[in-house]
Amino acid sequence: MDKLLQVEHLNTYFPIHDGRLHAVCDVSFHVNKGELLAIVGESGCGKSVTALSVIGLLPHRCKVESEGIFFEGSDIGGYSHSQMRRMRGKEISMIFQEPLTSLNPLFTIGFQLMETIRLHDDSGREKNREKALEILRKVEIARPEAILRSFPNELSGGMRQRVMIAIALVNHPKLIIADEPTTALDVTIQAQILALMKHLMAEYRTSIMFITHDLGVVAEVADRVLVMYAGQVVEEATVEELFREPMHPYTQGLMNSTIRIDQEEGMLPTIDGVVPTLAEMPDGCRFHPRCPHAKALCRSESPDVRSLGARRRVRCHMCGGVAALPAPG
Ligand SMILES: Nc1ncnc2c1ncn2[C@@H]1O[C@H](COP(=O)(O)OP(=O)(O)OP(=O)(O)O)[C@@H](O)[C@H]1O
Ligand SMILES: [Mg+2]
Repeated sequence: MDKLLQVEHLNTYFPIHDGRLHAVCDVSFHVNKGELLAIVGESGCGKSVTALSVIGLLPHRCKVESEGIFFEGSDIGGYSHSQMRRMRGKEISMIFQEPLTSLNPLFTIGFQLMETIRLHDDSGREKNREKALEILRKVEIARPEAILRSFPNELSGGMRQRVMIAIALVNHPKLIIADEPTTALDVTIQAQILALMKHLMAEYRTSIMFITHDLGVVAEVADRVLVMYAGQVVEEATVEELFREPMHPYTQGLMNSTIRIDQEEGMLPTIDGVVPTLAEMPDGCRFHPRCPHAKALCRSESPDVRSLGARRRVRCHMCGGVAALPAPG
């Protein structure tokens, strides 16, 4: 399968008064053409920082290093800010969790949508407007003319997220990075938006990098999955493989907590312990303080990512050797 995006050994640092914090740590992955790659992990695992590093939207003071961020073969990791700005919205676009923070409250939806069209593919006011109306219909917005005249705060959360999808799609980008695009929505609306994204993805042949902390959403939309923990990739698999046989104890923990939620409503998903802060990373395997299978080796030595077959990787001393770990339950 053709790779659209290939990220090689990405490292991202935040400067602090007495040094720097290593937020994304040797992360490599790829997104194939026409595929939906989900990135999953608890809060603070580095999902957003990974995405922002790829699309060049971190504050200037952050340091992003890699051995290449290849988009259709070109290394965009070395692109200047103005080169990246030209790519964003045209080749790669991003959808954020809370559209109110990415839509400007002072301008109408029409202005913001037409501005995106004008920036990358200006064909005159009338044609741009037609294009804006067409994309609003595609995201199943009724009365698109009225929506063009509306301000963001006049729309419901679900409508705003549809508008964000419209803005992200209007220039037919090859890749959409969606960072928790449905987390702020209630469950029914969330399902509608996910179905819409899948449908549009097929129609426009767009690839999606989909960030979520919700394995239920992963099961519903993903082709392949990258599991992140404490700034590192701990497991990569196709969605079928991941759910059939989660290998990393962290993935198993996430699965268990998801199952528990289904069974006992209202119960919070938990793996004992919390994600370590960047300033207090444990030695050895970063997951070992929370891992039910940790051995002396795990406390002293950081495991490398190992490939197990063509499409599967795992970062765990104990998984080689799947049988080394008991099944989740
Ligand atoms: N601007 C920043 N300065 C310093 N540290 C940061 C900054 N932004 C993020 N971090 C740290 O980087 C780590 C990864 O954060 P990130 O936002 O990528 O997590 P996430 O997986 O997207 O979590 P969530 O699910 O809550 O969105 C966290 O430890 C976070 O505290
Ligand atoms: Mg995030």
